[in-house]
Amino acid sequence: MEITFAKPTLPQSGVLVVGVLQNRKLTAGAATLDEKLGGSLVRAISTGRFQGKTDQSVSLIAPAGTKYERILVVGLGKAKEIDTLRMQAVGGQIVAELGRAVDGSVAVWVDPIEGCNLKPVEMAAQLAFGARLRSYRFDLYKTKKDDDDNGPEMKALRILCETPAKAAKIFDPLDKIADGVFFTRDLASEPANILYPETLAERAKSLSDIGIDVEVLGEEQMRELGMNALLGVGQGSARESKLVVMQWNGDPNGKGKAKAPVAFVGKGVTFDTGGISIKPAANMEDMKWDMGGAGVVIGLMKALAGRKARVNAVGVVGLVENMPSGTAQRPGDVVKSMSGQTIEVLNTDAEGRLVLADALWYCKERFKPQFMVDLATLTGAIIICLGSEKAGMFSNDDQLSRRLFEAGEAVGERVWRMPLTPEYDKLIKSDIADMQNIGANRGAGSITAAQFLQRFVGKTPWAHLDIAGVTWSKKDAAVVPKGATAFGVRLLNQLVEKRYESE
Ligand code: BES
Ligand code: MN
Ligand code: ZN
Repeated sequence: MEITFAKPTLPQSGVLVVGVLQNRKLTAGAATLDEKLGGSLVRAISTGRFQGKTDQSVSLIAPAGTKYERILVVGLGKAKEIDTLRMQAVGGQIVAELGRAVDGSVAVWVDPIEGCNLKPVEMAAQLAFGARLRSYRFDLYKTKKDDDDNGPEMKALRILCETPAKAAKIFDPLDKIADGVFFTRDLASEPANILYPETLAERAKSLSDIGIDVEVLGEEQMRELGMNALLGVGQGSARESKLVVMQWNGDPNGKGKAKAPVAFVGKGVTFDTGGISIKPAANMEDMKWDMGGAGVVIGLMKALAGRKARVNAVGVVGLVENMPSGTAQRPGDVVKSMSGQTIEVLNTDAEGRLVLADALWYCKERFKPQFMVDLATLTGAIIICLGSEKAGMFSNDDQLSRRLFEAGEAVGERVWRMPLTPEYDKLIKSDIADMQNIGANRGAGSITAAQFLQRFVGKTPWAHLDIAGVTWSKKDAAVVPKGATAFGVRLLNQLVEKRYESE
């Protein structure tokens, strides 16, 4: 979908979108149009339930005496409640409603609203961002594109506002963030016969085109580094495990003056069968997106580089396939991690933490980052705790937690902090090794997983986001069509943008 901005002149044909506030209060654009239509817009919105509340809309199809294909009136809610998330949702709503229905070009009229905190250019850019985010589809394997339930794709969206050049300038970095989000959604959507450690690493390598330095370590190099926790997970697979290291050096301060990098670490299990502790058949196909954390880290790096963020950022992703086979790891095996700590693998399905143990340790040792945030579809238990509304957050640092919480609220990717304490840490004591990879009893599964990770971060400020409940969505949301959400890309971009970029 192509998005452009233009001066507000009332188009004579095609599809036109105007906004109406709560209690059917017309915006200037809606009033102009109503006049032109001889009052039929007001008549249309006064029949039926439409009140101008958020998520409400009215469609006028081929209104008499005009050449319009359709006029869509969208509810904006109360003027004083209009913010960036509200405008993004309106953009998303427009794409969702019109995608199915329209043929011609779509123009959206955005004008100043009295009592609203957002400037019209901001409103226009945020609406465009929401529209773009909602327009995502993964139809690579549909040989008949018209089969898509959403109908043919909307081709072009023109946003009409007083200062189009300024709006386009505000939209540009948002568009780059959307590029990152789409990259992540593609990765999580790909099936595991197409996307496995090697091919996922290749996708990451393609980011060198936009100035990201990408290194790929194979099994031999990882063995030399002592990454036996990660390697143990991949040893049952015919596919070689990989570790991908991405660096974006956007801080304009020269060497020495530049601050230590910020770092992001992702779980990249390209398929999780559970290994010898094999999972039941029902819904096992979901485990193609068990690389969701790695996907977010890669898409985030693309977003940061795309908008030329003034920060030094590192992304590390551990890529493995967890399979049962004659060479697979057995329950009860003991492995020595890169940190030197030994792990008794009591359940081969608790594999994500084994991958992250080595990836986190490697990241900390090599880069000495300001902080590390890891993302992982780590536990089913976090879905029991928080459902699909929020990701679980675990951290050893109050400031980082607060900043992540605030970033999440600002972009609508919300996180909720969960506890880490010595009592929970005791639950992963092993009889024969330094720790075991599952808790001593069935309770607190997400917490014991996080306690495990904490043993591999040293004193580095760190946060772990358990995104098992938010990585894939079974239903459409405002700016996220059902399927891969890329939850975390906008959140971490916001964290970097608000707190860690140089002047
Ligand atoms: N990848 C799964 C967690 C998961 C479950 C993600 C559902 C998304 C949806 C993880 O590797 C796993 O299998 N965790 C186990 C841990 C248990 C064996 C301690 C779980 O949650 O059951
Ligand atoms: Mn598992
Ligand atoms: Zn897993």
